Amino acid sequence: MNVTLSATLAANEEINRRRRSGQRVLNLAFGEAGLPVHPSLQERLTVASGQNGYGPVAGLPALREAAAGYWERRGLPTDPETVVCGPGSKPLLYGLLLAIGGDVVLPMPSWVSYAAQAELVGARPLPVPAPPGEGGVPDPERVVSAVLHARARGRDVRSLLVTLPDNPTGTLAATDAVKKITEVARALDLVIISDEIYRDLVHDPGTPFLSPADLAPERTVVTSGLSKSLALGGWRIGVARLPSAELRTRMLAVASEIWSSPAAPVQHAAAYAYTEPAELQERVERSRRLHGAVARAAHARFVRAGVRAHAPHGGFYLYPDFTGLDIATSDELAARLLDRHGVGVLPGHAFGDDPAALRVRVATSLLYGETTEQRLAALEAPDPLGLPWIAASLDHLEEALDALGTGAEDAAARPRPRPRGRVVSRRASVA
Ligand SMILES: Cc1ncc(COP(=O)(O)O)c(C=O)c1O
Repeated sequence: MNVTLSATLAANEEINRRRRSGQRVLNLAFGEAGLPVHPSLQERLTVASGQNGYGPVAGLPALREAAAGYWERRGLPTDPETVVCGPGSKPLLYGLLLAIGGDVVLPMPSWVSYAAQAELVGARPLPVPAPPGEGGVPDPERVVSAVLHARARGRDVRSLLVTLPDNPTGTLAATDAVKKITEVARALDLVIISDEIYRDLVHDPGTPFLSPADLAPERTVVTSGLSKSLALGGWRIGVARLPSAELRTRMLAVASEIWSSPAAPVQHAAAYAYTEPAELQERVERSRRLHGAVARAAHARFVRAGVRAHAPHGGFYLYPDFTGLDIATSDELAARLLDRHGVGVLPGHAFGDDPAALRVRVATSLLYGETTEQRLAALEAPDPLGLPWIAASLDHLEEALDALGTGAEDAAARPRPRPRGRVVSRRASVA
């Protein structure tokens, strides 16, 4: 079994190492929301810090009820009994792969951990390309032929995963694509795992959103969490909405042997968050606007430099395509951007893409600032792009893209002279 550190965490560690050694590096590699915790959540966490019991495996009733309410407000009637909570949606996804069993169809490209988790549980991922501009949902016709072909060779394909909106492409599949993939999953008798962790961060609130759970509730698991919409990645809390009592039983068996229950104080704060009080709705709304503004501004820099990239629809990612550059692989492209131009991105290869395709994933969410003050200012600014630190980062990106096209080396990547006197502290590792 090939077990390596998750590409995204490994890149983040390398970037922070370079920053500590004095290099100016733009961290566009790590998919962290890059925003502070809302004070009302901090208060709830503090108040609940005395709660030290394990609690029920499925999660506290208050959290399961609140999560059910969250889905109901989005048109998905949910019995709290069908909700299972975990320490992040990542372990929930891992648990689901174990509980469902068999092989899983994945969109290509797709988030780094799906394929790695499938391999860890002894399943084989079946990657099927997603149409350009509609990331997160594999092409339905190609799914049919891939699954039939795999089954004909004795493979036991049982599930299909979609990401709405998508990481790494930052796009949201159209409702038509969701309808088609749901029909295909039904015809092939596949369980659908719909990872909707970026759902509340669709940039334009008028964009129609369709979950496979709206169409095929009997076979769809929805996973979500608070890591992105409320920037609580380090608190480790996620929720899953399960379609059947049987899958719930299997999922609880897995959960009971791996994490027992999510951290009790975090569950109390999460239960409050999932009731969506006005101050948290406002926070999510501001975050959504900030993510959209910065992702669109970065997208414009790529387009201006002649790099092809689909406009982002949600979350904080772009997936530009550098076809035409004289570089052999996306790994080399990412290494060159980091070594010569001080820009950290992840190669498309890490997301299951063709290694020779010159695509990289760009995360724009660590551009909001280095300190809590800067990040709050970014959240509150009517025009965050006018803030000097965000403007400087976008300029750095623009210079790097220009220099990359001409083969020139960018000054940004050269070590800076060490400051005299007191060493200015840089933000330590963020993960
Ligand atoms: C598509 C996707 N799913 C799931 C996760 C995991 O989030 P968490 O485990 O923090 O809930 C991430 C985080 O990067 C993600 O990008």
